[in-house]
Amino acid sequence: MRQIITISLVFLAVLALVHVAAGQGIPSTAVRNFTYTGFVARDELDFGVEFNPVFGPENLKLMFYDPLGGDERIEVGAVWYKRRAHLESFNVTFTVRMSNLSHTGVGNPDGFALVVQNHRANAFGAGAGGIGYGATPDYEDLGVRRSVAVEFDTYLDENLGDPNSNHISVHHTTPERVHNSAHEETALTPPGAVTNIPGIAGFTHKYNVQYIEKQLSVYIDDSASPAYQTTIDIPSIISLNSSGAFVGLTAACMSTCEDVEVLDWSFNYVAILDATKSFVTNVKNNSVAGRTSSFTVQGVDTNGYYYQTGGDASKWTVEFTRVSGSGSVVSPSVNVVDKNDGTYTISYAPTSAGVYDVTVYYNANALAGMPFRITVDPGAVDATKSDILGNINGGVAGQPLNITILGKDAFNNVNPNNNPPATFTASFNNGGASASSSFIGNGTYLIQYTLTTARTYTMTVTYNGTAQQVKGSPFNAVTITPALPEPSASVASGTGIVGGTAGTTLTAVVLVRDRFQNNITSNLPAGYQLTGFWDKPAAGNNVTFTVQPDGTLAGSYAISTAGTYRLTIVMAPTGLPISGSPFPVTISAETITSAAQSVATGAGLTTASAGNNASFTVQARDQFGNNMASSDASIAVSFSDDSGVPLQIAHTAVQNSADRSQWIVSYVPTNALSTRISVSLNGAPIKASPFIVNVHPGTLDPKNCFAEGLGLATPKTKVPLSFVVITADHFNNRLKSGGATIDVTLKEMKSGATVTGSVQDLNNGAYNVGFTLTRSGTYNITINANGVPIGKDTKYSMVVPNEGLGALGWALIVLAILALIAVVGGGAFWYLKYYKARSDYDEIGA
Ligand SMILES: *[C@@H]1O[C@H](CO)[C@@H](O)[C@H](O)[C@H]1NC(C)=O
Ligand SMILES: *[C@@H]1O[C@H](CO)[C@@H](O)[C@H](O)[C@H]1NC(C)=O
Ligand SMILES: *[C@@H]1O[C@H](CO)[C@@H](O)[C@H](O)[C@H]1NC(C)=O
Ligand SMILES: *[C@@H]1O[C@H](CO)[C@@H](O)[C@H](O)[C@H]1NC(C)=O
Ligand SMILES: *[C@@H]1O[C@H](CO)[C@@H](O)[C@H](O)[C@H]1NC(C)=O
Ligand SMILES: *[C@@H]1O[C@H](CO)[C@@H](O)[C@H](O)[C@H]1NC(C)=O
Ligand SMILES: *[C@@H]1O[C@H](CO)[C@@H](O)[C@H](O)[C@H]1NC(C)=O
Ligand SMILES: *[C@@H]1O[C@H](CO)[C@@H](O)[C@H](O)[C@H]1NC(C)=O
Ligand SMILES: *[C@@H]1O[C@H](CO)[C@@H](O)[C@H](O)[C@H]1NC(C)=O
Ligand SMILES: *[C@@H]1O[C@H](CO)[C@@H](O)[C@H](O)[C@H]1NC(C)=O
Ligand SMILES: *[C@@H]1O[C@H](CO)[C@@H](O)[C@H](O)[C@H]1NC(C)=O
Ligand SMILES: *[C@@H]1O[C@H](CO)[C@@H](O)[C@H](O)[C@H]1NC(C)=O
Repeated sequence: MRQIITISLVFLAVLALVHVAAGQGIPSTAVRNFTYTGFVARDELDFGVEFNPVFGPENLKLMFYDPLGGDERIEVGAVWYKRRAHLESFNVTFTVRMSNLSHTGVGNPDGFALVVQNHRANAFGAGAGGIGYGATPDYEDLGVRRSVAVEFDTYLDENLGDPNSNHISVHHTTPERVHNSAHEETALTPPGAVTNIPGIAGFTHKYNVQYIEKQLSVYIDDSASPAYQTTIDIPSIISLNSSGAFVGLTAACMSTCEDVEVLDWSFNYVAILDATKSFVTNVKNNSVAGRTSSFTVQGVDTNGYYYQTGGDASKWTVEFTRVSGSGSVVSPSVNVVDKNDGTYTISYAPTSAGVYDVTVYYNANALAGMPFRITVDPGAVDATKSDILGNINGGVAGQPLNITILGKDAFNNVNPNNNPPATFTASFNNGGASASSSFIGNGTYLIQYTLTTARTYTMTVTYNGTAQQVKGSPFNAVTITPALPEPSASVASGTGIVGGTAGTTLTAVVLVRDRFQNNITSNLPAGYQLTGFWDKPAAGNNVTFTVQPDGTLAGSYAISTAGTYRLTIVMAPTGLPISGSPFPVTISAETITSAAQSVATGAGLTTASAGNNASFTVQARDQFGNNMASSDASIAVSFSDDSGVPLQIAHTAVQNSADRSQWIVSYVPTNALSTRISVSLNGAPIKASPFIVNVHPGTLDPKNCFAEGLGLATPKTKVPLSFVVITADHFNNRLKSGGATIDVTLKEMKSGATVTGSVQDLNNGAYNVGFTLTRSGTYNITINANGVPIGKDTKYSMVVPNEGLGALGWALIVLAILALIAVVGGGAFWYLKYYKARSDYDEIGA
């Protein structure tokens, strides 16, 4: 048993050295306390070899009265707590009863002592005056080595220099005094032997010996003031180490002796906590904001041993000093739990990330190894604490916009490394495409989003797929403005791109848009003006566009020439056409008829012939001379001769059902003469009215043809005779051109002989008929024009006298004259009526 203990002590000692070297104290290995209020044999006690202990049962007799003991009787009693105890400081209490006294006068040999020693568990010293611990002159080698004894001496031993028979003194070894001595010369001085104490022999007293911080005090019977007090370095004297040493009670006597009984005995090691030796352990130097971390404080006493009992938790304080990190620091809350075993669990909940120096104080004194360093890492990103930076106000359609989020934990610490990973998502109302973040370092998340529809959005930035939103979210004013104008997306409307009535102002309105179909109704960038070009010069100038109050661009023009045009609207600077360009623009005539611009065309305006239907077309036009689509004007056509005398000529003016801007005017003249045709629309003459038409005679009408001439009037024989056949039309208009077939046959009635006239076409409507008669007689003259006998009821005949006129000849003459008169009379009428034609004829005839 002893062997095993020894081995384990050695092992623990090595460990302890390591700790001492680290300046951190050592675990306790030796005994710290024991208590006996009675004694039994199995107690952990050891005894000096010559000592035969007597167990109470309630006491332990160190000495006993023996009336039969002779002068040679010398007894030694020594009882040791079997195991080593810490003796750097202690508090020992024991009650001793000294009874059955045998001596008086010089006292009762010899007393007892409290002894601490570092020699052995069964040590003992000399008997009698040696009081079981010290050497005496007779036994100089029997002093306990490496020991300190507090003796309670009850016998005045002159050999030992005792001052009286009731004193207390302290005796200890020195390097020179290897064996402790009971001689008062060796008593610790001051104070030396203290005699001013209650009587010991014959009394029962409670003795309390306290050794604290090198001060040794002895109290008797709970006295407030010590009976004895001194200062002594016990550990040094007994070469104490952490393995401890022995504590015991010794006594001695001689001859009869007396009873020395120990009624109770308790020992306590006195531990006084020393901040400078206490240390922290179980430090987890990495903690996370918001999470509770803890470490342990191991109390160490002034002697370097682990403190083993509880204390006052409030005496422990912790100071956190941040040595790096940013932002304000909130000092962690600290909680100290006394584990009642000399350790304290100190927990703290840091919230500000950073590196800290931590100093633990006990009673305002810093512990050993302070400060120690811990790192507080940021906690997981907390959306509600994370700041959003960058573009929350929007930008231009189609442009990638950036927002950054500084990821912070619940305590506003920036979480620099995206640990654990988080993703932010920006989502938009109104159909805006949502976008997710990517981590770009330094605790920063980038969300790049692109919106194409210009408007104001509400952006909601959520966190890691949850509904949690970042600080400030939702952002209500993300405004996207249109991108640059895009010709092919810009649209035109209005009359200007379709057309309208000639002369009216037509306007093309262009809504400029960007490539995302966003309307650009304000802030049209410089250099993006529009121009409209025409395909035909008739359309006039290029169309210029100006900004309207509503932001559209309007260009106006007026075209007076009806027709179809192409309007190409292009946008600078590219010069590309806008959507739908070129635009077919149709300009239609006005609906108000302008007589002055209206025209008439057709053959019937230049030539006509009597009896034939002549026609021309009247075209209604507007004031710009555009042929109208339809006209509601009323038309009037009238005829007159050169001198303005109205002519009644049958005519019609019929609106063309296929083109209601036209009238077909047709008329049938009867008189071949220069005729004025006046055409008016709504009472006003049309352009170039009146028109002068030379009405030609109609086609030959045999009925209105006649013959005349001397050859008929005074026929003779044997001379060439001639007359003229005058041709005319149905309306008695003399023909003015030839080409008719005129046949003339003269038949002598009696003989039946015939003579054929030779006909010469004078090409002016007259035909000269020449013949020669060889015999006289009555001739029947047949004149055919185009195969039809001319004249109405007229019959041509003549009597050719035989060189004198017979009755018949005269009759024929009279008849011929009558016929002539008839012809001349008719001619006079025609002359009056158709003077010009007549004179023409006369000219031709002349
Ligand atoms: C203490 O000293 C004793 C000798 O006096 C020795 O045997 C023991 O190992 C020492 N203990 C330590 C922890 O040094
Ligand atoms: C005595 O010591 C033991 C361990 O050695 C300890 O558990 C106990 O608390 C101590 N008692 C007192 C009263 O100090
Ligand atoms: C020493 O022990 C006595 C008796 O047990 C006690 O009253 C006293 O307070 C103790 N002193 C110290 C310093 O431990
Ligand atoms: C004294 O000793 C005797 C003999 O041993 C014993 O009987 C007696 O009880 C003792 N008296 C006291 C007070 O202890
Ligand atoms: C934390 O402890 C580990 C291991 O004990 C050490 O390597 C590291 O340097 C310590 N960090 C700080 C900040 O003290
Ligand atoms: C957003 O970031 C991208 C890439 O860094 C960059 O090309 C773009 O110009 C940024 N957008 C704005 C509006 O700054
Ligand atoms: C975010 O979500 C991812 C994937 O679900 C998860 O791994 C991560 O831990 C989450 N981050 C936080 C900070 O909760
Ligand atoms: C992070 O921040 C540091 C200091 O502000 C800077 O030097 C470094 O360039 C940043 N790194 C990145 C990836 O932004
Ligand atoms: C763009 O303009 C057109 C025409 O004025 C209009 O109908 C449309 O609603 C506008 N779009 C927006 C987004 O305002
Ligand atoms: C229309 O614009 C073109 C090009 O700018 C120019 O050459 C042309 O003369 C302009 N025409 C008119 C009628 O202004
Ligand atoms: C004359 O001709 C036109 C068309 O050629 C016709 O409409 C009209 O009836 C004709 N007039 C007469 C009198 O025959
Ligand atoms: C002339 O001859 C025609 C036909 O030959 C005849 O009909 C007519 O009676 C004749 N006239 C005279 C007066 O004989």
